[in-house]
Amino acid sequence: ERLVVAIDGPSGSGKSSTARGVAERLGLDYLDTGAMYRAATWLALHEQVDRTDRHRVSELVARARFGIDLDPRTATIAVDGVDVTTAIREPAVSAAVSSVATNLEVRHDLVARQQALIADSSRGIVVEGRDITTVVAPDAQVRVLLVADPAARVARRRAELGETVTADDVTDQVIRRDADDSTVAAFTEAAPGVTVVDSTHAGLDEVIGRICTLAEP
Ligand code: CDP
Repeated sequence: ERLVVAIDGPSGSGKSSTARGVAERLGLDYLDTGAMYRAATWLALHEQVDRTDRHRVSELVARARFGIDLDPRTATIAVDGVDVTTAIREPAVSAAVSSVATNLEVRHDLVARQQALIADSSRGIVVEGRDITTVVAPDAQVRVLLVADPAARVARRRAELGETVTADDVTDQVIRRDADDSTVAAFTEAAPGVTVVDSTHAGLDEVIGRICTLAEP
């Protein structure tokens, strides 16, 4: 049977590097659902749509064509033919993404697109996000909630962003976004049947190894 690995976790838990590593090691496709929420946000900013106008935002997203590359080594994402892989990581997008991700019409649309991508993957797939173990793929054979202490998550995000940002900015990004996101996705508590993996004191290879072990038949 086609393997589906679902990984949820908050910012800075190491979710993306972990999920990509698992996909590479197991030869599976890879889907970063956060990148889809970021791409939808990029589009709303680009089109200068009032983000408090939920219906206009969801209409804009509904009309958009997402080009998603499921190769874990590249994982590019395009919106209506424009490659936004780099642009979606910019601070303006990070600051606005929760407002788009709490739009229930947008969530409904993106969850359906994610489920279609999962159904179309013939090699099996690793899917990461906030609601994968609970909403997008609750029937996945492997379901993991990746957690880490807040201080470790802030430190990781800071290392990723480099010297261009202050510690306070990063703390705000990580902690405030957790709080905003928690209104839609309860990702700090594992649903029944979900394995909690704590990466606070574990290296990337160790965490990847643990999840790959869960995937063994
Ligand atoms: O940067 P970080 O790893 O924290 O987040 P991300 O995985 O790139 O996701 C960006 C944002 O998308 C999150 O802060 C959530 O607001 C939203 N998101 C969501 O609501 N549901 C998902 N399945 C994935 C992401």
